[in-house]
Amino acid sequence: MSDFAYQKCIDPRCGSTFDLLEVLSRCPKCGSLLDAEYEWDRLDVPGSLAWFEERWAGRRNPLDLSGVWRFRELLPFAHEPAVLTIGEGQTLLRRADRLAPDIGLAPGSLFLQFEGLNPSGSFKDNGMTAAFTHARMAGAARAACASTGNTSASLACFAAASGLLEPIIFIGSGKIAYGKLSQALDFGGKTVQINGDFDDAMARVQEACKETGMYLMNSLNPFRLEGQKAIMFRVLEGLGWEPPDWIVVPGGNLGNSSAFGKAFIELHRLGLIKRVPRIAIINSTGADTLTRLVNDEGLAWNGGNVDDAIIERFYAKMDTAGRRANTIASAIEINRPVNLKKALRTLDFTRGVVRAVPDEAILDAKALVGRSGIGCEPASAASVAGTQLLREEGLIGKSDRVVCILTGHQLKDPDATVWYHSLPLDEMRGKLAKYGVKNAAHQNRPVPAANDLDSILKAI
Ligand code: F0G
Repeated sequence: MSDFAYQKCIDPRCGSTFDLLEVLSRCPKCGSLLDAEYEWDRLDVPGSLAWFEERWAGRRNPLDLSGVWRFRELLPFAHEPAVLTIGEGQTLLRRADRLAPDIGLAPGSLFLQFEGLNPSGSFKDNGMTAAFTHARMAGAARAACASTGNTSASLACFAAASGLLEPIIFIGSGKIAYGKLSQALDFGGKTVQINGDFDDAMARVQEACKETGMYLMNSLNPFRLEGQKAIMFRVLEGLGWEPPDWIVVPGGNLGNSSAFGKAFIELHRLGLIKRVPRIAIINSTGADTLTRLVNDEGLAWNGGNVDDAIIERFYAKMDTAGRRANTIASAIEINRPVNLKKALRTLDFTRGVVRAVPDEAILDAKALVGRSGIGCEPASAASVAGTQLLREEGLIGKSDRVVCILTGHQLKDPDATVWYHSLPLDEMRGKLAKYGVKNAAHQNRPVPAANDLDSILKAI
């Protein structure tokens, strides 16, 4: 398969190509982002998406069981013996009729794609299986990532399960949910806590990889994004191959939104879908670089000729003002999203939109998701809060079919959940005030009771 795959700079002003097995995270010629590319005309691609249903009968083959590799003809870079799969992608697309009316949608219109069911509890495993496979093909020995927590949990999990690569993890100080940190530590990742935030850790890990030849597992890695395309394949599968009207996804480093856009560009080009869903990318207002750049500064894909001056000016202003990302949705607490340009491409191709929602709306939406029987972490619920906002604006119609991507599991960050449900206790008020969260519209407070039956009966 991989004879027809290569790497290509996404900037049409450069457009350089590189061998599949080169270990690169940016274009060595111009510094822009790289895509995995294929000579589709020379590959054997199924004529319809329903063809993949044949794989459902082959679950004893780990490649067919995987929610990523059962679509392997749509990410055809891997030599099959090199594939490392640990059962990723056994996820759920749930029709959410109980939640839909709460956010202004008609029953039957809202679907939740729950990526918390992955082996390490987040969508990252879709990408990690693909990046590990490429790393193995390229003969890498050590792998590194910077992380707000989920990438590190996933990297450490795949490394521990396979024994293939030594995992080195860079995290910022203080700002990582304990559920995620505990995973990285338990899985045996060498964890380096940097005196800085995620953006600092992301800059340092790139330097360290350049210096030492470590394999970079962040979403700058084009092969990770190949794996994350499969989230869209499974969404389509769950909807009987009928594209929805909207995909709504939280935006942090913008890997998912980039991968989803690439998936639809390719499916459309291959004639496997006729209609392309619109993609809405949702930031937290505490980390809203994409929202500001697109909605306020007019930044656009522009056929690949992105105006770098707008970005540089924006970052310079941000630095002068000393503005750092700050959100309860720690997974997306990112000011300099590395996949910015690929996300612009997604917005362009899908007629997408970008919005930012405040942390209080994120936590309220998370509580609503919880009451509908799925547990997600704060960042994930940005997709639901964003859908609600776009409904209020009238951009999403009441009966539009909407798929919200729930990127990570509730148990990744139990602190945020308990704080929210325990407000207004003074201690909890203190924890949430710095994120502008004052009220908890859908809270479920624990009720104190004396240790006797009468008091307990009164309490319930
Ligand atoms: N949701 C969760 C739960 C995440 O962990 C992340 C990213 C995102 C959304 C944002 O996705 O970067 O593709 O836009 N977490 C990264 C990490 C940054 O290090 O775990 P994105």
